[in-house]
Parts: sequence; structure tokens; C-alpha cells
Amino acid sequence: MPDQSAGASIEALEEILGADGVLTDAVDTAPFLTDHRRLYHGQALAVALPRSVEQISRLLAYCNERHVGVVPQGGNTGYCGGATPDESGREIVVSLQRLNHIRSVDSLNYSLVAEAGCILADVQRAADDAERFFPLSLGSEGTCQIGGNLSTNAGGTSVLRYGMMRDLVLGLEVVLADGRILSSLSALRKDNTGYDIKSLFLGAEGTLGVITAASIKLFPKVRSSATAFAAVSDVRAAIDLLARLREASGDRVSSFELIPRIGIDLTTRHIPGVTDPLGRPYSWYVLCELTSSRAADPLDDVIEEALASALEDGLVLDAALARSERERDALWKLRETIPEAQRLDGANLKHDISIAVSALPGFVERASRWVHENVLDGRLVAYGHVGDGNLHFNLNQAPGSDRNTFLAREAPLKRAIHDLVREFGGSFSAEHGIGRLKVGELERYASPVELDLMRAVKRAFDPNGVLNPGKVLSSAALRAGLTGSAEPACAVQRSP
Ligand code: FAD
Ligand code: MLT
Ligand code: ZN
Repeated sequence: MPDQSAGASIEALEEILGADGVLTDAVDTAPFLTDHRRLYHGQALAVALPRSVEQISRLLAYCNERHVGVVPQGGNTGYCGGATPDESGREIVVSLQRLNHIRSVDSLNYSLVAEAGCILADVQRAADDAERFFPLSLGSEGTCQIGGNLSTNAGGTSVLRYGMMRDLVLGLEVVLADGRILSSLSALRKDNTGYDIKSLFLGAEGTLGVITAASIKLFPKVRSSATAFAAVSDVRAAIDLLARLREASGDRVSSFELIPRIGIDLTTRHIPGVTDPLGRPYSWYVLCELTSSRAADPLDDVIEEALASALEDGLVLDAALARSERERDALWKLRETIPEAQRLDGANLKHDISIAVSALPGFVERASRWVHENVLDGRLVAYGHVGDGNLHFNLNQAPGSDRNTFLAREAPLKRAIHDLVREFGGSFSAEHGIGRLKVGELERYASPVELDLMRAVKRAFDPNGVLNPGKVLSSAALRAGLTGSAEPACAVQRSP
């Protein structure tokens, strides 16, 4: 029986992973110990760089026996601190970066098997090389990994048409807490054989197993597209326009993103090469894209006609159509660099919320009014995947304000915004997950029944609590055998 209090030994790790598979030097480990927003700074006994599923299996079996915490890490682009170890210096970060092969592509089955450490953009390219399309698309796609996408159930800009990462998965290969390997790399679209175990790992943020590979869905390649940037009078007009475009295009809207004026101001100021696509300023804009797998589908005509009639009816105030791939890229650069421009502009607080699309205008009106009246040193930067009801209801410190005073507002601000989201029947985490950042929010807003079931699942998959401890669910609550939530769950949800 191993001495559990002894933790892990570097010699044993090197025996499992080889000397070049274990980083301990502070300079080498530093990039793995901080999240990219620099909200969390952890310590680790070592960073493991396994080359094979078998090495991960042996590593997990060893850590499980000794009760050593293991923190899976992909591209480290997550927003909730889920990939950062705690401050104890006893945990081991397991980076998936060396498991980065595309194992197979099956064009006729419209599927592909990728290892967890594959960069998302490389998976998109592999699909494209096979004359197919993998639709998941995020601003971080040049860095994030498919394992991280699966573990956060990532969303992004094409969910409206293709769904979230969960909807794009056929099968998984996962190493369990005790080192056993779940090999379920199915290529099947239909398989009703008992509980859908793989589902549990999607969005589990590394707390139930380490994903090592996935079988994912591909789609026909996009061969025609039309991209427009339109100024709209308000959020209501934006969602009315979305409904019109869906009808007019035969539901070929693949992206529909809301951008506020401040999004243009921030990106044109901080990101080289970004310009305002329209001649004069407006309060709100949408970036919308229609796509089709048919070559020469007249989507430009469809979008132009729909926008012209919306212009006549006063829904749209002005619009620009991308006439070349370069112009399309410029519009997407504007949208996708808003988070970076926010970062460059100063301290910011993020609220990744979702509400039913029809209720968004009412929410934005109420929440914006509250921010304007109560956060005098902050500026609202509310943008995002409005076609999915997902807004990044973010705030930046106002020019000339004090960074620390602004950041000190985080807790009351979060409480006010998330309580309002609850009142509108929405979610406080639409696509970024829970990680470390939102453990308290989950305890506040999930019902006792949901928390009971989540803790029961965690205990069943990871009885020793070694997989990403303290992420998603509080370790203290798990240890204490708590059932339900500490606070009463939301009572009646009233509609806006
Ligand atoms: P990491 O940050 O490394 O890890 C995230 C979580 O997954 C952690 O809990 C980690 O422990 C776990 N994990 C990672 N790999 C594995 C594995 N193999 N097995 C088990 N657990 C694992 N997100 C969106 O959803 N939509 C967006 O539009 C979006 N835009 C973004 C834009 C920018 C500029 C940036 C910086 C981030 C954006 N994100 C977005 C957030 C982030 O990119 C996603 O959450 C992404 O899926 C994280 O992938 P990653 O490989 O970086 O994971
Ligand atoms: C995005 O959609 O750009 C990100 O998910 C939002 C963010 O950085 O808050
Ligand atoms: Zn987003």
C-alpha cells in the first residue's frame, strides 16, 4: 500500500514518462502554471508531457494510488482557471500537447479521429484537406486544443447552424481516474446502447477523466458564403433581422454576432489593421454570414435582398457586404479581436451569459440600465453570439479609473448581473464553463437535486478526488459528503 501522504516522486514520474516527459525547472513550468487571463497563479510538483495513452494511463493509476491531484491542460486558453493547478505545489499538470495526431479521416462517413492535443485550427485544416468541413470556430482556434474544446463544451461563432462541441462528437477515448482506458471511439451516428457515458466527459473540465482522442463529425465543405455587417437600431431589431434572414435564406445563417459601438472603438484603437466598415457611427451592429455547400449558391443576392427590405422597414440603418475574401476576413478580424482589444484597454470583468433569444432585448435593457446607474467607473462591452442567445456581457474599466477599485467590484457586480440572468430564466455560464472561477456560482444557482447528482457522478468516476480537484465542484463539499446546495436554489423563475 503506497504512503498517500508522500505525494508523487519525480523519479517515479520519470520512470513512467521518460526524463524528457517531466518538467520541473521553474522557467520550463511557468507557462503551465498561470491562466492566460492571469487570474490564477498555481504551483505544481511537475508538468507531465506524455507521448501516449498508455503513459497517461500509468500516470493516472500512480497518482490515484497516492491521492495526488492531476490537472489536465490543453492550449490553456480557457476563461475560468480550469487548467491551472492550485497553490499547494503537490499537483501534477498533464499537458496533452504531444498527443497531437490525426489518427484517421473517413470522408464517406463524414468523420475524423483526432488526438486530444491537436490544435483546433489543425483539425479544421485536416477536414479541409479531405474536402470536408469541421465547423467549430473560436477566436482562440490557433492555440486551443480539441481536448480543451471537448472538456469545456466550447461554443463559438457557428453554433447557430452546427451546435456546440457536444453536438459534434461521435465517440471518445478517455483515461479514467484509476488508469483504466475507456475506448469508445465510435464512428456511429446511431447507438442507443444504454447510458450515454461519453456525454458526461463533455463539459466536465477534466474532473471526470482525461480525454485522449475523439471521433468527431464532419460536414460538406462550405463552397458559397455571403457575409454582411449591418447597423441596427437596437437588440430587438437585431433579433428580428435574424428571424427574417433565417426565413429568407432557407435557414442557411451560420453566424449572427452582435457588436456594440464600443466594440468598434476598442478594436480600431488597439488592433492594427481594423477599420470601421461603415461611414458613420451607430449604436449596434450585427455581423452575419450565410453559407452553403453548393458552389455558386446566390447567397449574396439573398442577403442583399433581405437587408434592403429590412432597411426599408427601419430594422437596418446601414450595411456593408463583403465583396472579397479579404473583406470577409477583415469583418471577422474586427469581431474576433474584441476580447484582445478589451484586454489591451485595461481591466475587464466577463459575464458569459445566455437567455432565450426572444428575451434578450428586455434583459439588455434592464441590465444596461443597472450598469449605467451603478458602475460609474466601468463601461459596458456587451457582444457575442446573439443568434444563440449568448452574450458576453463584459465590462471594462472606464478611462482614467483606478484598476483595483474597478476590479474590487467583481463580486457585487457578478451577483447583480447573474441574479438578473436567473430572473430571465438564463444561464450564468453559456460556453466558458465553471473552472475555479464559478464554483460558487454553480453552488448558488444549481438546484439541490442537480448538485446532488453532479456530486454523485464525481464520486463514482473519481472516488479519491484526484482529477482536477476544486474545479466545477468544491472539494470541501465533496469531502463533507454534502448533498444539495448551501443556499436555497432559485425559487420560481418569472418571465421578463
Ligand atoms: P484549456 O484552457 O487548456 O483547458 C480548459 C479546461 O479543460 C480545463 O478545465 C482543463 O483541465 C480541461 N482539459 C483540457 N484538455 C483536457 C483533456 N484532454 N481532457 C480532460 N480535460 C481537459 N470559448 C468558447 O466557448 N467560445 C468562444 O467563442 C471563445 N472565444 C475565445 C476567444 C479568445 C481570444 C480566447 C483566448 C478564448 C476563447 N474561448 C472561447 C475560451 C477557450 O478558448 C475555450 O474554452 C477552449 O475550448 C479551451 O480550450 P483549451 O485547449 O485552451 O483548454
Ligand atoms: C468571444 O466570443 O469572443 C469570447 O468567448 C468572449 C470573451 O472573451 O469574453
Ligand atoms: Zn464567445
